[in-house]
Amino acid sequence: MSVKYIPEPFRIKMVEPIKMLTREEREQKIKEAKYNTFNLKGEDVYIDLLTDSGTNAMSDIQWAGVMRGDEAYAGGRSYYNLVEACQDIFGYEFIQPVHQGRAAEKVLFGLLLEEGQYGISNMFFDTTRAHVELTGARALDCVVEEAKDPSHRAPFKGNMDVKKLEELINEHGKEKIGVVVMTITNNSAGGQPVSMQNMKDTAEVCKKYGITLVIDAARFAENAFFIKQREEEYKNKSVKEITKEMFSYADVFTMSAKKDAIVNMGGLLAIKDDAELYQLAKGRTISFEGFTTYGGLSGRDLEALAIGLYEGLDENYLEYRNGQMEYLAARLDDAGIAYQSPVGGHGVFVDAKALLPHIPSNEFPGQALAIELYKEAGIRTCEIGSYMLGNDPDTGEQLQADFEFTRLAIARRVYTQSHFDVMADALIAIKERADEINGYRITWEPPVLRHFQASLEPIK
Ligand code: F0G
Repeated sequence: MSVKYIPEPFRIKMVEPIKMLTREEREQKIKEAKYNTFNLKGEDVYIDLLTDSGTNAMSDIQWAGVMRGDEAYAGGRSYYNLVEACQDIFGYEFIQPVHQGRAAEKVLFGLLLEEGQYGISNMFFDTTRAHVELTGARALDCVVEEAKDPSHRAPFKGNMDVKKLEELINEHGKEKIGVVVMTITNNSAGGQPVSMQNMKDTAEVCKKYGITLVIDAARFAENAFFIKQREEEYKNKSVKEITKEMFSYADVFTMSAKKDAIVNMGGLLAIKDDAELYQLAKGRTISFEGFTTYGGLSGRDLEALAIGLYEGLDENYLEYRNGQMEYLAARLDDAGIAYQSPVGGHGVFVDAKALLPHIPSNEFPGQALAIELYKEAGIRTCEIGSYMLGNDPDTGEQLQADFEFTRLAIARRVYTQSHFDVMADALIAIKERADEINGYRITWEPPVLRHFQASLEPIK
């Protein structure tokens, strides 16, 4: 293994004890959780890789900001600090805080989409897809083909297939396409980045047909970091400069600030210059979230977010974070364990189909591996595959996903090198007895976003 672990650019000032249950206890806990990792109690988990969302460690400066948060109902200082930070970083005029990413989606998509229309994305995240479909519209994914082969290494596997995008627009008619969404990084494809060139090409198509281009910006800083590393003409630009250029090509962005903005709660809806759309968005924000200058957040949250946006762009931090992914990926390479490669920005997406080839997609190999990781080492992960994708909203039939991943999502500034070794060792131990692992069937499921709540049982 040639990858060296990049040391943390911080030291630890406060700790949170974690404990490891015995294997027998873990087997009992996951059974009681109906084999759904979302049903486990946090305290029964040793290393929590369920998500990198809201689970990040804030800095001492952010905590100081929390103490200085202005809790005025209207026009608080923390709101203006946040607006100023966003205008500086993204170059958008209108900034609306909301309580998290899906709240921004709810406010926005109700204004841009209606029954009979379509939203097209390089790949919708599950809640984003749900908010498109809740308006009565349909969500279409349009990622480049190379994303679909986890073993194929390419620099920008998150890209939009621009040719197919234009074909889809022509097939359905441009008036039927309410929105194009560029998810950066492309979470569902494995945290894979989108290139600046692809942003430009997508924006050009949207402009040609008069379609609003929205960035789903949860992991904007990681995407900008990958552009700096992998797109020749950007290697001497700062991540902040790259960010501003990236956003200049879109009209609107929604953001879950619980990822790259390194806060535990928060979201943004930002509109570049369309005052009319902003006015409408403010109206919906007041109904769904709260008054416009707090948007469902406390003043302290707004303050921590204004600081976190800059910390997420720090290049030493981004290098260390990316180094953690590279370290884990290198250990998996040594063991012959396949994952979406090259490794993504916020986690390692293990190719469960390759690790458990005897489990068909309708028996959810990604979920089987997630359950096994918990039993093996108390590691909590989630499936990103057919189990998460769910059923066709028109026919009710199980859809088959392009991938069957188990996602090891890495919270920011939380776990150390030894934790990464526990993760690698657990996967290696599972690989050695892979053929003994069984698939699962669903015994109960709700109609939308089933993976959060469904119950499962092992297929003997
Ligand atoms: N968009 C993307 C790309 C996301 O990854 C998420 C959340 C959202 C939107 C919704 O944001 O959770 O703040 O409402 N992703 C988390 C995850 C939950 O685990 O990947 P939210």
